[in-house]
Amino acid sequence: MKAVVKNIETTKNYILLTVETEKELKIEPGQFVMLKLKHYDFGKPFSVTYQEGKIIKFLIAVVGEMTKEMLKLKTNEEIAIRGAYGIPFIEKIDQNKKYVLLGGDCGSAPLIHFSEKYPHLVKEKIYGFATSEIKKILNVEGLHIDKESNMNLLEKANTINISSDDAFLICGSMDMIKTVKNYFKNNKIYASLEARMACGIGICKGCPIKTTEGIKMICKDGPIFDLSEVELEW
Ligand code: FES
Repeated sequence: MKAVVKNIETTKNYILLTVETEKELKIEPGQFVMLKLKHYDFGKPFSVTYQEGKIIKFLIAVVGEMTKEMLKLKTNEEIAIRGAYGIPFIEKIDQNKKYVLLGGDCGSAPLIHFSEKYPHLVKEKIYGFATSEIKKILNVEGLHIDKESNMNLLEKANTINISSDDAFLICGSMDMIKTVKNYFKNNKIYASLEARMACGIGICKGCPIKTTEGIKMICKDGPIFDLSEVELEW
């Protein structure tokens, strides 16, 4: 499907991209879509930060060749969009719990979407970024700027009154996810493992994860998993 760039805000390391799709796509928090630039043969998966009707926003870290190209996108330029893919957070999590949302860098994107759609399930939001440049393009409650992101995110989480009944919904680097899992051993933790995805659509076979129910593919069976059911060290 075609989408048109409505707005693009950039910093050195981040892009906040707003597009308008031809028709409304049904996208639940935690799902991702494939975005393809004009001169590219393949698209790449991106999770959604915000959606209302045909308007979709993406918070993107500038990390590879395609995202560097995205920095050059102009208003009214066309891109291709496909989706949504992946299992919505809401279908896997325990809806009787309250969630501390812990986002590492642009892993915060699907959590921001979740908090907008399901505020009654959110206990606290902590979106950790390494540099304050993110504030130029992102204005949401819960932004936490710190260079030593992993440990300081945990310290910040520790200032919240977390009971063993509260749960975590987290998304970020594998390092961050392992750290949170080791630290909050008594709490239920659901993690979006999207950082490990490549093609996003089951072709590259590059996203296997060992679970208590055998090998699963992050892009097809996730990206969200209950961390008590996966072996992160595999
Ligand atoms: S990301 Fe390519 S198969 Fe899952």
